[in-house]
Amino acid sequence: MVMANSLKFVTVACCLFVVLLMAYPVESAKRYLFKTCEQSSFCRRNREYADLAQSKGAAWDSPYAIDSSTVQFDGGVLQGTILKSILDSKGDPTNVELPFQLVFLESGTARFMVDEKQRTDSPISGFPESITQRRYNEASKWAVTGDLTPDDNAIDATTDNERKDGVYKIKFGPDRYFEAVVESKPLRVAFYRDGEPQVILNDRGLINMDHWRAKPDPSQINDDPSLKNELDIKDMWEESFGGSTDTKPKGPESIALDVTFPGYEHVFGIPEHADKFSLRETRGGEGNHNEPYRLFNVDIFEYEVNSPMAMYGAIPFMQAQKKKSSVGIFWANGADTWIDIVKSKPNEQSFGVKKSTETHWISESGIIDMYVMLGPDPTSVYHQYGLLTGFTALPPIYAVGYHQCRWNYNSEDDVAEVDANFDKYEIPYDAIWLDIEYTENKKYFTWLKSMFPTPEKMMQNLDKRKRKLVVIIDPHIKKEAGYKTYETLSKGELAIKTSEGQEYNGWCWPGESAWIDTFNPKAADFWKDQYKPGKFCGYENNFLMWNDMNEPSVFNGPEVSAPRDALHYGNWEHRDVHNIYGATYHNATQQAMLARNPRQRPFVLTRSFFAGSQRYGAVWTGDNAASWDYLKIVTPMLLSHSIAGFSFVGADVGGFFGNPTPELLTRWYQAGAFYPFFRGHAHIESKRREPWLAGEPYTSLIRNAIRLRYQLLPSVYTAFHRASFDGVPIVRPMFLLAPENEEAFEIDDQFFFGETGLLVKPIVEEGARSTEIYIPDDELYYDYFDETIYEGIGYKHLDAPFEKIPILARGGHIIVRRDRYRRSATLMSHDPLTLVIHLDRSGNAGGVFYMDDGETMAYNRGAFLHRFFMFNAQDNILRSRSMQPSGASSRSYEKTIDEVRIEKIILVGFNTDKLKSARTVEAFQDKKSWSADIHVAETSDGKVSVVTVRDPKVLVIGDWSIQF
Ligand code: NOJ
Repeated sequence: MVMANSLKFVTVACCLFVVLLMAYPVESAKRYLFKTCEQSSFCRRNREYADLAQSKGAAWDSPYAIDSSTVQFDGGVLQGTILKSILDSKGDPTNVELPFQLVFLESGTARFMVDEKQRTDSPISGFPESITQRRYNEASKWAVTGDLTPDDNAIDATTDNERKDGVYKIKFGPDRYFEAVVESKPLRVAFYRDGEPQVILNDRGLINMDHWRAKPDPSQINDDPSLKNELDIKDMWEESFGGSTDTKPKGPESIALDVTFPGYEHVFGIPEHADKFSLRETRGGEGNHNEPYRLFNVDIFEYEVNSPMAMYGAIPFMQAQKKKSSVGIFWANGADTWIDIVKSKPNEQSFGVKKSTETHWISESGIIDMYVMLGPDPTSVYHQYGLLTGFTALPPIYAVGYHQCRWNYNSEDDVAEVDANFDKYEIPYDAIWLDIEYTENKKYFTWLKSMFPTPEKMMQNLDKRKRKLVVIIDPHIKKEAGYKTYETLSKGELAIKTSEGQEYNGWCWPGESAWIDTFNPKAADFWKDQYKPGKFCGYENNFLMWNDMNEPSVFNGPEVSAPRDALHYGNWEHRDVHNIYGATYHNATQQAMLARNPRQRPFVLTRSFFAGSQRYGAVWTGDNAASWDYLKIVTPMLLSHSIAGFSFVGADVGGFFGNPTPELLTRWYQAGAFYPFFRGHAHIESKRREPWLAGEPYTSLIRNAIRLRYQLLPSVYTAFHRASFDGVPIVRPMFLLAPENEEAFEIDDQFFFGETGLLVKPIVEEGARSTEIYIPDDELYYDYFDETIYEGIGYKHLDAPFEKIPILARGGHIIVRRDRYRRSATLMSHDPLTLVIHLDRSGNAGGVFYMDDGETMAYNRGAFLHRFFMFNAQDNILRSRSMQPSGASSRSYEKTIDEVRIEKIILVGFNTDKLKSARTVEAFQDKKSWSADIHVAETSDGKVSVVTVRDPKVLVIGDWSIQF
């Protein structure tokens, strides 16, 4: 019955799509639900403005210029007023005042802000009286947690002559190595490093701000052409799309700015799009897009691949990369945003023979708030961006294991059976997931009692094998009398409101619903209440959370979301905060889980996100489909998320919609083993596809892939730790290790995995049994499985029979593994370790290892182990050294792991002549020494030697060394 009910809603939603589909050509299947730039008034107007500027060329006279009489520099801030010249309602020239600030932050990042002077004489027509502030200026408040203190050490280096010309030069950043050059007219802000401009704001003069003006009254227009024009501009004062009308009570308020990256041919980032990693041009031409990339969080049903269309999340961060140089920008704006990209012709005079990338950022509302990070290399940019928006929350170790999900596991028996089958087939996993059907009629915080009569017992059973239960909680709350959660939400006025200030209701899974407004601190408190111990999940602690539909998805709303004129806490319009909403919901859930159990690290998966969401948990790429194209697009998508600060990312393994062939499913698991977030998931109408159902040989191959992930967990977790303090992602693009090789910048079908030096190239083509893998630098590479050696920059042919994932291990890295099969990650926590050492060209290697209790917050107080292993070619000694200051917490933590030892060392590529005839090595720890047996596999057939130390008996704690 319940199943029938839920199917009814699915069917309603699907029918809606089918009906709409019939009216549209097949190739634009879902496009009709979402605006194109042309259909979006502010995007169209700003694009036309760009065309006008372009057509005028050097004669373009932008109406924006700095009033140099207003400019001052003090305490790390250059500020003044930009004047926008306009005609007033009588047709006379006048100016709009736009105060600007250029703030040089202590972190070395520069921040350029432009607001509009509040006009007290102009109340905002039709808006609640409490609204005095027109422009939303809180995007940074949500996204940025870093220190925004201006840097007193920034200095004014302007000469008197320059000042006379309205030019200002400020030196800032580490050792005042960076310089900002601000020109008043034409307005231009250039950021220099190494004596060269790296980022230029408004180089093309496209800055634009729809200034406030009252809507012209048609009866008073008479013949005034300027007013008539205003009214005639399509959709300027009111805009309809898909049957909904946006009343735009504040009138047009878009902002735009162009950003040029001189000499940079490649830009990356601005997730989320299902597209190439190196972003394409967007103004036509072969292989390019015709539409700008759009950032507007939407529930995009079965999204298109290779498209600039908006998806579930938005991170307005872009990285530009050229040979040996990297810079980043962050556009702190949560409104609907479109980004045009063109690559200009080489300009030999100013930037050598390289192309430059020119971008144009257009947002519907808010202020201009642009952060500029000058690198100079990718890791510095990621660190600078992390200092602003925060770093990846260190996940509990079980969240890094494998997750088993489907829509839906239907009952407690179903859960128990799936759980038991993992053991029967000896496949490790850490969490089983319940989708929306576990609730009573999609009322969150309830259980469908007929199918889940004893949820706490179910959790306790899972806990016996240290496994977790993840449940979904969406932000729409069913509007139903007697449903406590709804009643409290509604009575407390904690939901999103209509433009008239009433509770906003729309449709989602439960039918008519209200949406929690998590911008409201009281709503966040109310959310905490729902999760209190003893309530929804009893007193259990092995449950984790899944946030879905938080774009927010509204089945009958414009562009499947909330109306832009709906109101949030503080009377901000939804248009201002649309892209931030999902992150506030994710944050509220994380906070609720923390309040429930402050000792335990929460895990919350989200579908929608904004800059800073990496602080709250993991993300996945939404509703993909079981086809090879969707498997293929995952790698570029993971790369884009990763370089934009969101490291903990994955995609539905197997494809959400449809049914994968066993081959596709197997290849997807082989790829998924290297997704930072690793979860199998399927649509309610897809056939069951738990690994054992695939049959042989597939089940064994899937088992191998999942076990490989578990073997590598110590290294994966170490990579998460690094992301959590310096922002270097887990899925790494070629340029991170080979910043000099421009040829490799565009390669987005392979990646380096964490700290391991593993170069992974997933097989994404049906029937493929070999592949070409690209070596981007001059290092030695070894086949991870058989030690065949590869070297020299360029493509190498690699066999990839069905049972094999093409992986090369880069010389110079040390991988830390746990090789024993256990049922879950937590059960492995005290298992012995294996070190796998791949020597570089000079015979050296090094690797970091991080370990803590994997679940509590004690690591924040120093309860962790952080070590460095290094193999030195000069003395042939492998050493373990501490990387942490010794303190009481680390000592007491070490006591809990003092039996954890290294059980095996595998040394790949060692010159075995050095061993002479020795078949033992000497180990030293705690002033004692002993010998350990080794096994030597000599070089043969293009394969290098492998020396295995079988039981060196050294511990994971304390310094030790092994002499080969
Ligand atoms: C949409 C999500 O993207 C999908 O993963 C989930 O299964 C369904 N909503 C049902 O909750």
